[in-house]
Amino acid sequence: MPSYQDQILTPYDIKHLKLKNRLAVAPMTRVSATVDGLATSEMAQYYERFAKGGFGLIFSEGLYTDQKHSQGYPFQPGISEVRQAGAWRPVIERIHAQRSVIFAQVMHAGALSQGNRFVDTALAPSDVRPKGSQMKFYYGHGPYRVPQVMSDESIADAINGFVSASELALNVAGFDGLEIHGANGYLLDQFLTDYSNQRTDKWGGDVSARIGLTLEVIKAVKAAVGGKAPVGVRISQGKVNDFEHKWPEREGAAEVIFGSLDQAGIDFIHVTEYEAWKPAFEGCSETLVELANRYAPNATIIANGGLHVSEHAAEVVRSGADIISIGKSALANPDLPNRLKSQTPLADFDGSILNPIANIKDCELALGY
Ligand SMILES: Cc1cc2nc3c(=O)[nH]c(=O)nc-3n(C[C@H](O)[C@H](O)[C@H](O)COP(=O)(O)O)c2cc1C
Repeated sequence: MPSYQDQILTPYDIKHLKLKNRLAVAPMTRVSATVDGLATSEMAQYYERFAKGGFGLIFSEGLYTDQKHSQGYPFQPGISEVRQAGAWRPVIERIHAQRSVIFAQVMHAGALSQGNRFVDTALAPSDVRPKGSQMKFYYGHGPYRVPQVMSDESIADAINGFVSASELALNVAGFDGLEIHGANGYLLDQFLTDYSNQRTDKWGGDVSARIGLTLEVIKAVKAAVGGKAPVGVRISQGKVNDFEHKWPEREGAAEVIFGSLDQAGIDFIHVTEYEAWKPAFEGCSETLVELANRYAPNATIIANGGLHVSEHAAEVVRSGADIISIGKSALANPDLPNRLKSQTPLADFDGSILNPIANIKDCELALGY
């Protein structure tokens, strides 16, 4: 039986796209774009390091999709117009030069929007103030605003935003694939979550209704760009403003969520948990990865959460993950795949790099290759 190192460093085909290995950089917002959401040469340098360091796949940070309510943070990059899409081209060229690929993560912040240069209101399924406080390291302070309830028209606008952002990402920027952000407490996850979605129309109710907007976005995006590149979705239980959240319907929710994503023809599901190798629910033996694998047998499963530790990653691969994505440890080790190959120990992640603001720091760029 091959070791985890051997297994994870082998090529993998995601749809028709060839990855040189199964190690991915997780999406990480670094609020380092220009004020009008353009990727910069500093960002190109930052992303290129992961490709030079051996990662087969890189996820972009969450890119806002429209010029209305989707932007979450000041200095967040967008993919809402040709100019923003074009700014990614030099980043992508540098990644391709290393035989690595990059997927765009398209996101709508919904109620968690704490910095938007187009509007000063936030939209959400229901007028429920998000738990917790705005994130200081993304220039936020104090409680989140109470969002406005989305109308049918604003829901249609949000869907159209995902579609046009996806077209720009593939056709203008040249990204190799798309990840629809359905996790971590942002708009689509607000629709999925019982307490933030109190709607009584077709978008609210049981879990099969609450996953409806995510499915609708997938359908619309696939109709526009499907077949051209892999289209996937990110799914989590926890949220940036509610780490401990668990789906109240437990395995029943997993069956509906992963089963309907599979039926929708999703190419990959990127499952993120705080500690991905642990059981998904108290008193349950299976991880979320195992449940995703069981109920979405046709999708590639990407696992995330504390998986820089090889023993944990090996466990998750054994239980059905096809690709492992690494967040914080990739910031400390942009060459993590090369280190794995040469059996060089990993550097510890130092959280102070994200303080006081989570922007890209010169000392990170100095970890060049
Ligand atoms: C600075 C930072 C920014 C992040 N931004 C995003 C993001 O834009 N989109 C997203 O889906 N997850 C985001 N995440 C979550 C990571 O993708 C990942 O799920 C998390 O760090 C756990 O993985 P790890 O244990 O390997 O770090 C972010 C995490 C960090 C540390």
